[in-house]
This record gives sequence, C-alpha cells and structure tokens, in this order.
Amino acid sequence: MAEKQTQLKVSAIKDGTVLDHIPARSLFQVVDILDLAHSENPITIGVNLESKSQGRKGIIKIADRFFADEELNRIALAAPEATVNIIRDYEVVQKKKIDIPATVVGIAKCSNPMCVTNRQDVTTRFATIKDGKKVKLLCHYCEKTTEDFIPLRH
Ligand code: CTP
Ligand code: ZN
Repeated sequence: MAEKQTQLKVSAIKDGTVLDHIPARSLFQVVDILDLAHSENPITIGVNLESKSQGRKGIIKIADRFFADEELNRIALAAPEATVNIIRDYEVVQKKKIDIPATVVGIAKCSNPMCVTNRQDVTTRFATIKDGKKVKLLCHYCEKTTEDFIPLRH
C-alpha cells in the first residue's frame, strides 16, 4: 500500500516564473500587483505553506511567463523579501532578488482621502521609502505617507 502523503507540495513547472518566500498575508496583493486574475497562463498558488525562515509563506508559479524586471520590482510594495526563480526545462536557471523601485506610478492608492488622486482622475505617483522590511509610499501630490499598500483596482 502506498505510504500516506504527509507533505503537500505545489508541483514543479517546466518553464516559467516561481515567486517564492512571499509572506502569506501578502500573497493576494502580489496576485493583484501582477494582475494575475486576468492572466491566461497556467498558475498554481500555495498559501500558508510552512517555511523554515518565514513561518507561513506563499508561493506563486506562473507557467510559460517571464516578467520584465520592472514588473517584478512592483512586488516590493507587498513582499520585498520574495525571491524570483526563473525556470527553464525544469531547472532553476536564475534566482533574482526584488529591487525596490524608486517611484511607483498608478498601482497603489493614496491613503489620504483628501488627496487629489482620490477626488479627481489623477494617476497616483509615489516615491518609495524603505523602512526595515516594509516599503512605504510618499505621495507626490499630498506628501502624506501611505504605510500599507492598497492596490488600485484594474
Ligand atoms: N521550482 C518549480 N519548478 C521547477 C523547479 C523549481 O516550481 N522545475 C520551484 C521550487 O518548488 C521552489 C523554487 O522553484 O519553490 C525554487 O527552487 P529551488 O531553488 O530548487 O528551491 P530552494 O533551494 O528551496 O530555494 P530557496 O533557496 O530560494 O529557498
Ligand atoms: Zn496623496
């Protein structure tokens, strides 16, 4: 009789991108940032998986898709500690760290309800501030700091 499986794993992919070490609480924000809800690629998502270094982590595997660095760096808003693995023919051919972008345009919402970007049709624009593991956003328009990333809906 087959041994009982004690570990749940997300299957390996042949080609594509694996985003690993995503804090579990940030997983769905990363899905939003990369607009994966509108992707037609095969995607597998694991959340609340055990991690030695992180407590509970999330993982996203996107088959047959390779992102521009600029797109990947946006993940810093929600998960600066995530790692990006590029998979080709089942092998990890590259491991990338995420670089925090200097500016963030049109992805995040300003937390200040009085901000012009929340009252008129003005694209949001922020400078990033690194604060320990977190990335905060300084609004170009109202100069208020947004502590927690709020995605703009697509
Ligand atoms: N992976 C995958 N498909 C492959 C190869 C790897 O989905 N064909 C995934 C693994 O499941 C893992 C990630 O890509 O989540 C990185 O793989 P690897 O570097 O082999 O794992 P680790 O050594 O655990 O990575 P790290 O040191 O970054 O924790
Ligand atoms: Zn603002």
